[in-house]
Amino acid sequence: LNTRTHERIALIGTGAMGTAIARVLLKRNHWLVVWNRTLSRCNPLRATGAQVAATPLEAAANCDVLLICTRHYGDAHALISSDRIISALQGKLVVQLTTGSPAEVRALDAWANENDIRFLDAKIFSSPANIGTDAGTILFSGSASTFHHHKDLLGNLGAKPKYLGNDIGAASTLDLAVLSHMYGSSLAFMQAAAICNSEQLPLSVLESTLDDLGLGGRLITRLASMIASGNHQFQGWATVDTHRAAMEHIVQLCKQNGLDSSLPDLLSLHLTRATTAGHGGDELTRLYELLKPVQ
Ligand SMILES: NC(=O)c1ccc[n+]([C@@H]2O[C@H](COP(=O)([O-])OP(=O)(O)OC[C@H]3O[C@@H](n4cnc5c(N)ncnc54)[C@H](OP(=O)(O)O)[C@@H]3O)[C@@H](O)[C@H]2O)c1
Repeated sequence: LNTRTHERIALIGTGAMGTAIARVLLKRNHWLVVWNRTLSRCNPLRATGAQVAATPLEAAANCDVLLICTRHYGDAHALISSDRIISALQGKLVVQLTTGSPAEVRALDAWANENDIRFLDAKIFSSPANIGTDAGTILFSGSASTFHHHKDLLGNLGAKPKYLGNDIGAASTLDLAVLSHMYGSSLAFMQAAAICNSEQLPLSVLESTLDDLGLGGRLITRLASMIASGNHQFQGWATVDTHRAAMEHIVQLCKQNGLDSSLPDLLSLHLTRATTAGHGGDELTRLYELLKPVQ
């Protein structure tokens, strides 16, 4: 790992996560072309050696491997569905890093097969800040031979690669299951913190007690420190709007599979409330402030 591979790489989507991955690829001397809907967001990457494509077609035509990291899975699919892009991608590998549901992943996989495009689905367990530190993991699912053929490159995206097998839906299923757990735990902790705050019990007492009881961990430590700082502006993790898009996938998946969706519905409601109040660009802990009484 950590060595340059010969593939020319294109990346569509230079938001917080796409930019973090692009920085790692450039640092490891990969040839990279990037495209973003808001083109000016590519400027910092241009300054560190990336080519900037004027259109998704230009990016697709000038690469061997296309990485996609946008907010919605469906948006990304729409970007690469024109006939000219399809012919530019024939025989090439597309890796979809955007959060999405297994049904969306399977539809994209069927589309790729029909069009002679090789496809792997990938899901990221890392914050942008941890990309490049190898503290996180990227899950992959799809063809074993495709994964193994590109293993060196896929190990260079800034987190440990974990291959889940041929079932193309496996990475997205595990991703949404883990996210469902994370959002439920996060909101439960913020509710506990709001209860302590309403009776002037210090947050540190809650945090250390949860730790003693085996109910703490890295997520709780991180949320507690963000709540204690009182600063919920974007600090490089993920925005409420990004979390809300992921939560929508969880709600849809539960509904499609006939599962009770009352908990995901409730979590979505809290995220939507934050966006409606103008905090869509803030970190997740903004939800804590919205649990407190209006001053
Ligand atoms: N941040 C994290 O901690 C994290 C962790 C794991 C997975 N992820 C996943 O990574 C993906 C990107 O997240 P992020 O944190 O990078 O979000 P972000 O900073 O909000 O970036 C979103 C990206 O999607 C693009 N985009 C949004 N709508 C689009 C559309 N209709 N057409 C074309 N491009 C569009 C944006 O382009 P503009 O610049 O033009 O708006 C931007 O490049 C999401 O699926 C997220 O769930 C994020």
